[in-house]
Amino acid sequence: MDIVDVETTPFEGQKPGTSGLRKKTKTFMQPRYLENFVECIWRGIGGVEGKTLVLGGDGRYFGDRAAQVILRMAAASGARRIIVGQGALMSTPAASNMIRKRQTHGGIILSASHNPGGPDEDFGVKFNTPNGGPAPEEVTGRIFEATKEIRRYRILEAQDVDLDRLGTQRLGDMEVEVIDPVADYADLMERLFDFAAIREMISGGFRLTFDAMHAVTGPYAREILENRLGAAPGSVRNAEPKPDFGGGHPDPNPIWAEELVRAMHAEDAPDFGAASDGDGDRNMIMGPGMYVAPSDSLAVLAANAELAPAYADGIRGVARSMPTSRAVDHVARKKGLECFETPTGWKFFGNLLDEGRVRLCGEESAGTGSDHVREKDGLWAVLLWLNVLAATGKGVVELVHDHWREYGRDIYSRHDFEGVESEKAEALIDELRTRLDGLAGQSFAGRVVEAADEFSYTDPVDGSTAAQQGLRIYLEGGGRIVLRLSGTGTTGATLRVYLEDRTEEQDRFGVDTQEALGEVIAAAHEIARIEAHTGRTEPDVRA
Ligand code: G1P
Ligand code: ZN
Repeated sequence: MDIVDVETTPFEGQKPGTSGLRKKTKTFMQPRYLENFVECIWRGIGGVEGKTLVLGGDGRYFGDRAAQVILRMAAASGARRIIVGQGALMSTPAASNMIRKRQTHGGIILSASHNPGGPDEDFGVKFNTPNGGPAPEEVTGRIFEATKEIRRYRILEAQDVDLDRLGTQRLGDMEVEVIDPVADYADLMERLFDFAAIREMISGGFRLTFDAMHAVTGPYAREILENRLGAAPGSVRNAEPKPDFGGGHPDPNPIWAEELVRAMHAEDAPDFGAASDGDGDRNMIMGPGMYVAPSDSLAVLAANAELAPAYADGIRGVARSMPTSRAVDHVARKKGLECFETPTGWKFFGNLLDEGRVRLCGEESAGTGSDHVREKDGLWAVLLWLNVLAATGKGVVELVHDHWREYGRDIYSRHDFEGVESEKAEALIDELRTRLDGLAGQSFAGRVVEAADEFSYTDPVDGSTAAQQGLRIYLEGGGRIVLRLSGTGTTGATLRVYLEDRTEEQDRFGVDTQEALGEVIAAAHEIARIEAHTGRTEPDVRA
């Protein structure tokens, strides 16, 4: 087998975003595009010679081809061993676990998360560091710098590795270890949670349904929920991973997980419903007739985590991304926990988790997780919910209402304006930035601005900083509006407007979220002049 030195030239725009490099699949499929980026990962981490890496992916179109390229490039550059999931499949949290468990030098995950898959859709490549978490800015910055200068890469000329066959094979001088992607992860979950109590609840008639959305969690959910916990066969729906996720967006929100929403609103709805995304790190939680907002889910879990064996000795602290509602802050205050507000993106939780400052963290975008791995974790959240339900004997609706009674309710929604021309979206943010200082005291749509600023973050562990992480506008009475531009899109800009209001009045607990946020929504449009800048009056998605 020959190692080939290939001459290349840089591609523009290979800058990792909120979560790795995400582009149209066809962009990744151009000759040398993937190869350039992979070579730059090697350079960004100081080479792969002698190293062991994990390789996983969510099963989307082109993932199997990309895995073969990465294996041949790793072999050509002297890697010692690659641990890869059978069929090139491994969920993001399972990959994070494997990186940690086998003490590897990191790993590569092939996924564009909840974005659709297929030749005309999205693909992505993300590097995780030896702690199992997404590479911090310092590393992605080095990778990006390398992409601007690359002139050559190395690759082995070889046949495909048989990734369906478990066990170790050789590729040149490198070992390729094909593993069952599910077993270790399922074992980890069994150690964290009280499986016996959950099993008993299920055998006592508790019914659940989990929508894997034809993405990577199907095999995981079947093994854990059906085989190990005794949920009825078929409780996991859309369980076969497909390269195009069956044509939908593998995004667990009320719009894309509509099938689950319908089931949970039916007469004979199960007691518990959940879904996960393309690569298995997001979650959506439902009770009969109720969607639990991710910010509320984080707060409920923070309030009750001690009921699970892994967290019985306390969760020490909690962290949430800045745009996530402040519901969890109220829990932290009452329980005397440290509470951190970080920029959007899981990588910002890494240091806090590594240092043991927090054990639980989450984002409004359906991500919840803990210190068991260094990624958010969809099935973990589902199992913590089930553990809490089993331990309290309460249903989802009861648990959430009890929570609001005790801590008050932070009514919350995110409005996304998608496919906005980048210049227009940037102009909106730039203009609002210049007006922030003058907003306090002014009234919009009947709401008075209390304070406004732009969020910047200093990591309390290593002192690194991240500036321009979103515009925050606080309203009197506990409301808040946050605006920022998405860092994961592949076309144009997505303007995210995060809307929040606070109530402790019980008769407002049941009201429709969009209705309850009416004033805050109107104030956001007035303050940010959304229509004047973008021509839009309504968002594309209300999450
Ligand atoms: C989005 C979410 C963010 C999440 C990221 C990766 O990023 O908002 O919370 O960490 O996806 O899953 P954004 O597109 O807003 O930059
Ligand atoms: Zn994801």
